[in-house]
Amino acid sequence: MKVLGIETSCDETSAALVIDGQIVTNVIASQASRHAEWGGVVPEVAARMHVEAISGVIKAALQGTLPDAIAVSSRPGLVGALSVGVSAAKALAFAWGVPIVGVHHIEGHIVSPFDASTPPVFPFLSLVVSGGHTELFLVHDFGTYELIAETIDDAAGEAFDKAARLLDLGYPGGRALEELAQHGNPKRYSLPQGLRHDSHRWSFSGLKTAMRRLVEVEGDALHRADAAASLQAAIVAALVSKLESALNSMTISAVSLVGGVAANQPLRSAVQTIAERNGLPCFIPPLDRCTDNAAMIALAGSIRLSKGADDGFDFETLATSEI
Ligand code: KG4
Ligand code: ZN
Repeated sequence: MKVLGIETSCDETSAALVIDGQIVTNVIASQASRHAEWGGVVPEVAARMHVEAISGVIKAALQGTLPDAIAVSSRPGLVGALSVGVSAAKALAFAWGVPIVGVHHIEGHIVSPFDASTPPVFPFLSLVVSGGHTELFLVHDFGTYELIAETIDDAAGEAFDKAARLLDLGYPGGRALEELAQHGNPKRYSLPQGLRHDSHRWSFSGLKTAMRRLVEVEGDALHRADAAASLQAAIVAALVSKLESALNSMTISAVSLVGGVAANQPLRSAVQTIAERNGLPCFIPPLDRCTDNAAMIALAGSIRLSKGADDGFDFETLATSEI
C-alpha cells in the first residue's frame, strides 16, 4: 500500500511517501528560522507559510507516484496550521478517490521508530518528549495506550527552549543548547529536579526559574557551557528516573524514546543504557524522524489503513485531544 503522509501541526510542513511500511521519501520544510524572529511559533504566520509550502512539499514527496491512501496529522496542534494539511489531504483524497485517515500527532511520534524493517514488540514503554509533550506511555498495541506519567507544567522541549533563550541561543534552542553543553561541566551548577520522588508526574517549571536566577546572580561570571551542561543533565536525569521506576514496576518487552527531544544525544545514550541494563531492546528513531515529520504520520496511518479504515471527509481538526 502506497501511503502519502502529511504533517502541518506546528512549524514544519512535511510530506512523506511510505510503501508497505517502508519510508521512500520524507520531505520536511522547516519554518523555524522565520519564527526565531519572534522567539516562538506565531500561529498565523505558521498557517500562512504552510499554505505557501504545502503543494511543493507534497509534489517532492510523491515523485510522480499516485498513492493508494492518505494519512494526515489532524490533532492536537495549532488549528490554523493543522487545517492547511487536512484541507490539502481531503482535496487530494476526493480528487484521487482514495481513503483518508486523520492521525493523532502523538501516535505518529509513538509509531515513528517502527517501519517495515523494524517491527515493534509489545508491550513497550514509550517516552514521548517534544516541545509540547512529555509523557510516558505503556503501549499494549498500536491504538491502545496507557498513560503512566506526564508533566504537570512545561514540556521537556519547552525547558530546553526557555533555557536556551536565557543563554541567547535563539529559537528553538534544544539543539544549540546540546552543542554548547558538549564542552561544559554538568556538575558545575546544581539545578533542581522537580517532583523527584513522584513516579507519575514531571515538573520542569522550577528548572526554568532556577536557570533565570542563575543567569541573574552569576551575570558576566556565568560559564555558559557549564550552565547548558548542568541544565541538560538535570532534564535527562528527570526523564530517565521516571522511565526507570516504571521499568521496575511492570513487565515490559522493550523501551522506546521519541519526539523532538529524542534527538538529544545524551538522552538517547541514557535511555539506551537503561534498556541494556534491563536486557531489553531499545527503539529510538533516526534524527529526521524525531522532530516533526510526515513519515511518522504515514507509518501510523498505514496501520489503520491496512485494516480498511477510511475517516471520510468529516473528521475534525482539534487543538487538544486525548490519544
Ligand atoms: O516533536 P517536535 O519537533 O515538535 C513538537 O511536537 O513539539 O519537538 C520540538 C522540540 C523543541 O522544543 C526543540 O528544542 C527540541 O524538540 N529539540 C531538542 C533537540 N532537538 C530538538 N531538544 C534537545 N536536544 C536536541 N538535540
Ligand atoms: Zn511533535
